[in-house]
Amino acid sequence: MHSDPIVARLRAAGCVFAEAEAAFVRRHLHHPGDIERAVEARAGGMPLEHAVGVAEFAGLAVAVADGVFVPRRRAEVLASAAVAHRPDARVVVDLGCGCGALAAALASHLPGAEIHAVDIDPASVVVARANGRRFGFRAHHGSWWTALPTTLRGRVDLAVGYLPHVPTDRVERIHPDFRAHEPRHTVDGGPGGLDQVRAVAAPMTEWLSSEGVFVTLLSTEQVASVPGRVLQADDEDAVIVLDGAAVGHWGL
Ligand SMILES: C[S@@+](CC[C@H](N)C(=O)[O-])C[C@H]1O[C@@H](n2cnc3c(N)ncnc32)[C@H](O)[C@@H]1O
Repeated sequence: MHSDPIVARLRAAGCVFAEAEAAFVRRHLHHPGDIERAVEARAGGMPLEHAVGVAEFAGLAVAVADGVFVPRRRAEVLASAAVAHRPDARVVVDLGCGCGALAAALASHLPGAEIHAVDIDPASVVVARANGRRFGFRAHHGSWWTALPTTLRGRVDLAVGYLPHVPTDRVERIHPDFRAHEPRHTVDGGPGGLDQVRAVAAPMTEWLSSEGVFVTLLSTEQVASVPGRVLQADDEDAVIVLDGAAVGHWGL
């Protein structure tokens, strides 16, 4: 039995990274009752971030809640590459924001920019609004661009979206911890995985400013099917930038 009771409880429940998870719990929770509830929830199979109510993303501690997509560390590169590509952006949107982790990261790197976030899932928008008050962005409920205030039409310099892009037949392979706690619409991108990327790209020129761009993260194997420019890539993921010309090439 491990001398640390939290590590021992998590290990007994089969958590492989029990030490790291215990440290995460202690970093974010300080009241004994909160710690106890979180450890029990985690031992019962809830993803760690949902159990604690916090996710770590781009050096920030953002609120998250059960049923809301847990921000993935692999998406941090989307925020950093987008900011490096458009450090001058004044009007920025995060499409499909979940808890708003990308919007929070963008707000921390683009002080002074007007930042909006959108999600179709009401529970996500509730959490995103709480994060928005802390980090400095506004969250709206609805589908993609249509959720934005119409005053943003033609003014968006930088749109960022970590969209559902997992091909339907691969969704079943996602870790069961997450599959049970994140709704399917947060990840399922249709048969080839690109249905939502097309849905966002099709009307984007109505919303983007003349130099505006849409930056997204896809799997590297999807890059060949998208008429965008790769900003950054490794074996698994690629950050792609699309502009109005890309939409034309796609015939959207
Ligand atoms: C892969 S998750 C990413 C969430 C968040 N950007 C992050 O990195 O943590 C995709 C998000 O898109 C949202 N979504 C799916 N369809 C949508 C739609 N039609 N309009 C707006 N958001 C949508 C889901 O609810 C989910 O929160």
